[in-house]
Amino acid sequence: MKVTVFGIGYVGLVQAAVLADAGHSVCCVDIDSNKIENLKKGIIPIYEPGLTPLVESNYQAGRLLFTTDAAEGVNFGELQFIAVGTPPDEDGSADLKYVLKVAETIATHMQAPKVVIDKSTVPVGTADKVSAKMAQVLAERNVTIDFSVVSNPEFLKEGAAVNDCKRPDRIVIGTDSKEAEELMRELYAPFNRNHDKIVIMDIKSAELTKYAANCMLATKISFMNEMSNLAEKLGADIEMVRQGIGSDERIGYHFIYPGCGYGGSCFPKDVQALIRTAESIGYNSEILKAVESINYKQKEKLFEYICKHYQVWDQAQTGNIEGLLAGKTIALWGLSFKPNTDDMRDASSRRLMETLWQAGAKVQAYDPEAMEETQRIYGSRSDLSLMGTKESALNGADALVICTEWQSFRAPDFDLIKNALSESVIFDGRNMFEPERMNKKGFAYYCIGRAL
Ligand code: UGA
Repeated sequence: MKVTVFGIGYVGLVQAAVLADAGHSVCCVDIDSNKIENLKKGIIPIYEPGLTPLVESNYQAGRLLFTTDAAEGVNFGELQFIAVGTPPDEDGSADLKYVLKVAETIATHMQAPKVVIDKSTVPVGTADKVSAKMAQVLAERNVTIDFSVVSNPEFLKEGAAVNDCKRPDRIVIGTDSKEAEELMRELYAPFNRNHDKIVIMDIKSAELTKYAANCMLATKISFMNEMSNLAEKLGADIEMVRQGIGSDERIGYHFIYPGCGYGGSCFPKDVQALIRTAESIGYNSEILKAVESINYKQKEKLFEYICKHYQVWDQAQTGNIEGLLAGKTIALWGLSFKPNTDDMRDASSRRLMETLWQAGAKVQAYDPEAMEETQRIYGSRSDLSLMGTKESALNGADALVICTEWQSFRAPDFDLIKNALSESVIFDGRNMFEPERMNKKGFAYYCIGRAL
C-alpha cells in the first residue's frame, strides 16, 4: 500500500520504517529540511536500537522516501498518518496546532479520497477537530472529496520501539467507517499474524485508550513509590513487597519498580493532559492528581537522602537550600530518563542536578548515551563536568548517585569506587544492589524503600 507519514520524529520515523520493511511504500514528510537531508544520508536524529539499519535498507530499496514537499506527500499515499508532536501548552493540555496544521495541509492538496490517521497522542475529540478542519478547507476549495479520520494510537516504548512496532501486542483502531477499517486491516495484516491483535472501536474510545494505558502505568509506578515511602518509614523492604505482590497475576511484575520517579516524553505529559481534559468537562481526577504529585515528590527523594547524609536535611526543609552542599562534588551515573535511550525529557537526573547546583554542589556526570543531550541542554557550566567513562566520573567526588539503571552499572568495580570517592557512599535511585552486600563492602548505601 502507499502510505504517507507527516512528522518524522520518534513515532513517525519508527512507524514509517517498520511499515516500509513489511513491504509498504512510505513517503515521510517533515518541515525540517536538515532532518530530511540527513535521513537520506542515513543519519538518524534519535538513538533507537535497530532503527538505523532499518531506515538505511528500506531507503536503499526505494520503499522509504523522504521529502519536505507536503503536496508530494499528500498525493503519494491513500493513507495519511499524522505523527507530529503535541507539546503541552502552558496549562498542561496537549497543544494541537501541529496536528491541525497537517489536517489543513492534507485538505489543501488532496485530489483523491484519503484516510487520515491520528498517530500522535491526542486528547479525546481531536479526530472531530481534524475532520472539521479538513471539511472547512475542502469547502473553501469548493471541492467534494471523501475522507475519513481514524484514531490509531501507538504504544511504543523508547529503547524497544522497533520491536514494539514490529510485534505489537494490540493494534487499536478507532473508526466509524467500514472502508477505512478494511484499509487499516490491510495495512496491518503483516503485523497481525498468529492471533488477531486488531481491536476495532469507536474513535473517542481509541483516543481515550491511549491515555488510559499510560495513566494506568504511571499510576502503578506512583503507587509503588508511595508504598516504598511507607516501607521505609515502617522498617519494611519494598523489594520484598514488590515480589510478594507481583506474583499475583492480577497485579503482575511489570511497572511496579519503585525508583526516583518516572520521566520521559509520555507519562508526565499524558497524565497532565488527561487531568486537564477531565477538568475541561468539570471532572476532578483525584487519582491522576495524586499520581502526578507523588511523582513530583519522588524526584526529590535522592536529594533528601543526600541532605540527610550530610546532616543538612533540617535546614533543607525550611525551603532555603542555597549553599547547603557547597564544597561537595557528586558523581552522577545515568542521565537519560531510562536506559537504552538518550532522551532526557523530564528525567529524574535533571531535577536532581538542578537542585544540587542550587545547593552549591558540583556534579561529575556520565551516561552511556545522553552526554551530547546533556551538553545541549545545559551547555558548559562550571558546576557540571561531563565525563567520558563511569570510572572517571568518580575521581575526586565525595559520593556516587545513580539515577538510571543502565545495564553497564549493574556490576561495577566496587573497590575502584571506594578508592575514587572521598567517602564510601552511594545513593541509588533504582535499587540496583543488595543493601546488605553493600554494607558488608563498607558502603553507606541509600536506596528506595528498603529500611535504611
Ligand atoms: C511509555 C509507555 O510505556 C509506552 O507503552 C507508550 O507507548 C509510550 O510511553 C508513549 O506514550 O509513547 P516510555 O516513555 O518510552 O513508554 O518509557 P517507559 O519504559 O514506560 O518508562 C517510563 C518511565 O517510568 C521511566 O522513567 C522509567 O524509569 C519509569 N518506570 C518504569 C519506573 O519508575 N518503574 C517501573 O516499574 C517502570
